[in-house]
Amino acid sequence: MTARLIDGFDREITYVRLSVTDRCDFRCVYCMSEDMTFLPRQQILSLEEIYRVGRVLVELGVKKIRLTGGEPLIRQNILWLVEKLAALNGLQELTMTTNGSRLKTLAQPLKDAGLDRINISLDSLNATRFHEITRTGHLSDVLAGITAAQQAGFQRIKLNSVIMRHRNDDEILTLVNFARQQQLDLAFIEEMPLGNISEHQRIDTYISNEEIRQRIAQEYALLPATDNTGGPARYYRMTDSQSRIGFISPHSHNFCGSCNRVRVTVEGRLLLCLGNEHSADLRAPIRAHTDNDQPLIETIINALPLKPERHYFDLDETPQIVRFMNMTGG
Ligand code: 5AD
Ligand code: SF4
Repeated sequence: MTARLIDGFDREITYVRLSVTDRCDFRCVYCMSEDMTFLPRQQILSLEEIYRVGRVLVELGVKKIRLTGGEPLIRQNILWLVEKLAALNGLQELTMTTNGSRLKTLAQPLKDAGLDRINISLDSLNATRFHEITRTGHLSDVLAGITAAQQAGFQRIKLNSVIMRHRNDDEILTLVNFARQQQLDLAFIEEMPLGNISEHQRIDTYISNEEIRQRIAQEYALLPATDNTGGPARYYRMTDSQSRIGFISPHSHNFCGSCNRVRVTVEGRLLLCLGNEHSADLRAPIRAHTDNDQPLIETIINALPLKPERHYFDLDETPQIVRFMNMTGG
């Protein structure tokens, strides 16, 4: 197949984030409200259907797939999907973003199933605070999960941290030092206005990545790294460590110009941009044509011109995007 996925701004789509569940065992304050309603089962794609979406996208030129959630490791039989996707010809990298709570037992099976890389969310190294931010999570589980991922042989494990002012901004250097000790990469993500959360006003907790970078730079010289993982992060190195420090700055540094990504929700909705509602329903062609991929392929290709040039986030207004991050697929 020679078809390629090119959008209306001449960007080629080579990276897809597939959400495998909207559910999560955590309720992070910036991601969810305390009482969430999740999708009923019949609305979500089966693992076979998710695999089919992945296979078709790889046939259309996608090189990298990231599995996300919610929390991807709470989906039953997730290892089956990892194994099937990892075996696809043409896929160069299969990765996962997880909260780490179940990695202690699943890291090795994931490695054996062919997962290439893992990102683990970690916003605090203080157990009490970790529990406050995640509402239900336990730091010790995640730390054990990180160790298990290292022992399973995963390379370039990356931590993701969302820093909130007056909440965990005093842990910026603690997190950097932990990453250095453990030889992990660490990326700071600016909190995005996805979904109406009531726990805090995002404008009050906003802290720019530039401020975070300056605080780190007081301790460690940060040298811009030349390599890039194909994602939105800008990376820096330190002279005395293998760890890289990344910044994903949807507010302060728009990265849309080089965007190579789309997302697919667990309902089979192709989201063309994190910060916009433009989307196409893939579930209808998937279910109407179980042995003919053509309608699915056409739906994907016809949706690409909907991909907007860029996102606009405004923390002063109520969120324009009502979808929560767990629906969006981190
Ligand atoms: N803004 C920024 N990051 C978020 N995440 C979840 N919700 C938000 C939000 N509103 C993060 C998680 C995880 C990554 C996939 O996305 O902490 O690290
Ligand atoms: Fe779950 Fe990740 Fe959302 Fe936290 S940020 S509630 S771990 S999906």
